[in-house]
Amino acid sequence: MNDSKNEIENRKKDHLKIVCDEDVNYQGVSTGFEDYHFIHNALPEIDLKDVNVSTDFLGYQLNLPLMITSMGGGENQGKSLNRGLAKAANSEKVALGLGSIRPALDNPEAISSYAIAREYAPDIPIVANLGAAQLSSSLASKNLFKLLKDIGVDAISIHLNPLQEALQPEGNTSFKGVGRAIEILIDTISLPIIVKEVGFGLSVNVVKRLQKIGIEWVDIAGAGGTSWARIEEKRIKNKFYKKVAKEFFEWGIPTLQSLIDSVKIKGVKVIASGGIDTGLKFSKAIALGASLGGAAAPFLRVWKENDVEGIQELISIFKEALRLSLFCTGTKNISSFKGNTSIIERIGN
Ligand SMILES: Cc1cc2nc3c(=O)[nH]c(=O)nc-3n(C[C@H](O)[C@H](O)[C@H](O)COP(=O)(O)O)c2cc1C
Repeated sequence: MNDSKNEIENRKKDHLKIVCDEDVNYQGVSTGFEDYHFIHNALPEIDLKDVNVSTDFLGYQLNLPLMITSMGGGENQGKSLNRGLAKAANSEKVALGLGSIRPALDNPEAISSYAIAREYAPDIPIVANLGAAQLSSSLASKNLFKLLKDIGVDAISIHLNPLQEALQPEGNTSFKGVGRAIEILIDTISLPIIVKEVGFGLSVNVVKRLQKIGIEWVDIAGAGGTSWARIEEKRIKNKFYKKVAKEFFEWGIPTLQSLIDSVKIKGVKVIASGGIDTGLKFSKAIALGASLGGAAAPFLRVWKENDVEGIQELISIFKEALRLSLFCTGTKNISSFKGNTSIIERIGN
């Protein structure tokens, strides 16, 4: 990909603006969580004050099993977003994903927009991010490894986003050899690797293939929340390609489907994201077997409205909804709540 530095930065800026100013969520496809409900337990036999929703992730203890997933970095607004997300994630003790570090690979000036996260968040896991299509070329350079060290991350996530790249006017659609590049990364890096989508979902076959090559963590990023077909359509100028993008507005594997399929695959730990914008969807994701729940755009929007406080409040709502979900299903901690089929059921079953 031979985008200029400015092109990448402008694209990132466009994305932040479009997600805040326009309705770019799926409209016909939903996450699927509304098909499930918790089995209310009117006789829980526990004290709410004994309910504990903390969990371990990448060697840290989190106050709740939540990750703010990849968004910011690369330019001024990305830097202030990462600062805000880091402050809030650190005070509430949740995990933080950074946006793609691609801009920093090309331009050392952009490094501070990622490194700022560790500065404001010394006590939580921070995950760097890079596109699969950019991985092969980055592996050849020593920059990647130095950069990860300089930013001070605990893990790296690799995004698989073929449809987003195909719809992007300046996208990189070369996905040949991506599986092999991930294998090489596993062999050359000592950090944990998470493979994620960006909102179109990971299928059961893709997760199985990832597990076979040695990936332990996936972030399914399913359909039902942010639609990248809708976002990119807003950026496309060419009338023909605008029409093509519209064809894909409802494309993707709903988050619930991707979650249910992925948690069945042995040896894989699942981060459930994509349209998780309420505490109850978050709670259902954990009850259905996710190790963490994740969200991106909902945190961007509250940051835009109310800065760090807005993010802290949304995290607190997720935490309280989860705590009450445990209490009202008679479960005391995450290990007895996660993947517990006796507390949640499909409506109509
Ligand atoms: C403004 C914005 C920027 C994003 N940038 C990245 C990125 O750099 N790398 C990545 O893997 N995902 C990126 N994503 C995708 C999110 O991490 C997430 O997978 C997706 O938005 C679905 O979650 P949501 O429905 O909670 O927004 C971005 C999302 C948003 C809203």
